[in-house]
Amino acid sequence: MKKLLTALLTGAASLSLVACGKSNKLVIGTNAAFPPFEYKEDGNITGFDMDLIKKYGESVGKKIEIKDMDFDAALTSASTGKIDIAIAGITKNEKREKTLSFSDGYYSSNQVVVLSTTTANEIKTATETMTNDEKITYILSQLEGKKIGVQRATTGQFYVEGDADWEFDGIKDAKCNPYDNGGLAIKDLNDGKIDAVILDEAPAKNIVSKNYSTTLSILDSALTEEEYAIAVKKGNTELVNSLNEFIKTIKANGEYAKLLEKYFG
Ligand code: ARG
Repeated sequence: MKKLLTALLTGAASLSLVACGKSNKLVIGTNAAFPPFEYKEDGNITGFDMDLIKKYGESVGKKIEIKDMDFDAALTSASTGKIDIAIAGITKNEKREKTLSFSDGYYSSNQVVVLSTTTANEIKTATETMTNDEKITYILSQLEGKKIGVQRATTGQFYVEGDADWEFDGIKDAKCNPYDNGGLAIKDLNDGKIDAVILDEAPAKNIVSKNYSTTLSILDSALTEEEYAIAVKKGNTELVNSLNEFIKTIKANGEYAKLLEKYFG
């Protein structure tokens, strides 16, 4: 009986493989300089996104191979099908949807402003009694003409430079300095080489609290509203559906909450 069952199961498994005509490995692209979503620890790539995608692999019985690359390369590689999946705290956006298909969102995020603690305190004092909209107007006026660091090809860069597709007006006369990753931008801010950094909230908090907790501070006001999603080659509905199914399942069965707890406490 057991033998028969095994034979049946193996048969079914290989049949479904043949039916899909696909390998049983998924190649994943990320940019592992975005803690706590993806980062390197003792030479290994780890983080919230990495755990998430490994769990997905397990759930569909496929091996996961993770490749670290520049953020823009992860997006391009997914759009050309060079990799199967890009997961890298990627903000779902209509412009990107022209070349990629996205899963449902799995994490809400936003852009924040990192400043020297001195400047941040001045702004906090000046804006204390303001409404949120007034605060943002004030902050943007303070950033006019300043040197602002961002991670290349991310929301932060589009926000500073202005981008019609993202509906960002841009920061007046600002000089945008794009870096390979947010950590490098924050380091230059700490070294006094630039005036501010605009970055996704969780990585900004993570990097500042680990290395620059006294010298740098983050303003409370969020500049954007974003949703992270998993990107695949445009039109790969089968994979998108399967990812959505997975996201729904782990949100319902508590595994998603466990991941949040592990990486955000
Ligand atoms: N959420 C931002 C974007 O999609 C930044 C993502 C950067 N991710 C990374 N792993 N470096 O543009």
